Amino acid sequence: MPDAGSNKGWFASLPNDSVLKTVIVATVLCLICSVVVSATAVGLRPLQQRNAILAMKQEILRVAGLDDPSRTVEESFSRIETRIIDLSTGQIAADIDPETFDFQKASRDPETSEAIPARQDIAGLSRRPLYAPVYVVQGDAGPGMIILPVSGYGLWSTMYGFLALETDGTTVAGITFYQDAETPGLGAEINNPRWQRVWEGKKVYGPDGQVALRVVKGTVNPRAADAEYQVDGLSGATLTANGVSHMVDFWMGAQGFGPFLQRVRDEGGVT
Ligand SMILES: Cc1cc2nc3c(=O)[nH]c(=O)nc-3n(C[C@H](O)[C@H](O)[C@H](O)COP(=O)(O)O)c2cc1C
Repeated sequence: MPDAGSNKGWFASLPNDSVLKTVIVATVLCLICSVVVSATAVGLRPLQQRNAILAMKQEILRVAGLDDPSRTVEESFSRIETRIIDLSTGQIAADIDPETFDFQKASRDPETSEAIPARQDIAGLSRRPLYAPVYVVQGDAGPGMIILPVSGYGLWSTMYGFLALETDGTTVAGITFYQDAETPGLGAEINNPRWQRVWEGKKVYGPDGQVALRVVKGTVNPRAADAEYQVDGLSGATLTANGVSHMVDFWMGAQGFGPFLQRVRDEGGVT
């Protein structure tokens, strides 16, 4: 009488402790797991992208003082108009759709960005986008606060954030950072709301029209002539603070939003 085991397939008839069977089981398991992980990652990508856009909108609402827990982000964001600016002229780039414009991608793409000569690369960015979004809060009396994306190298990392300006194009309404890898308790104090509040009311441009705003070492003397252009330093984190000063200098200057903000100041607000 034939042994029942003789009908088993070749694989099943291998002893469980054989090296070959162990290798085959491990390989098949790895393949199945990698397919599941890859499919999940690909499937979740659109959701991750949507969440990243929502997080960005929430940050913009926060710096504009418009975050309202009783409303959805999209509802609150409906008060904000996105415009894409040609940075060299400061004019609106009418042929670019703000809905589909990807600023991060445009900042690296050779067609929509250019290398910054080392001498001028004060914010340590290597490349400069030719176009950038500005976010304009629509008030009852028309366009109001302007929110600008800013970035610059600190001590360990590129810091990404938003700087909000009042309609006059020079008075700071707020600052926020949504990505950095500075040291908690030192450079990462740029995320401390108490420090961010110190920025409110400060002026970006001096009487000569040049960027004058900077983070100083120590505490600002409120009686100093240029106190309105100075922000308190971060104790033990002067290098990160210098990075923030350079970031402001770069993005508010001629290579960044300088031409756009000049137009805003000349025209007495965003038109
Ligand atoms: C582990 C470690 C992490 C640090 N992280 C930061 C940082 O994130 N930002 C920063 O400006 N300085 C950081 N520093 C301190 C700098 O090396 C430097 O001493 C400091 O920026 C000088 O600032 P101060 O003149 O206000 O003391 C760090 C130092 C150490 C040892």
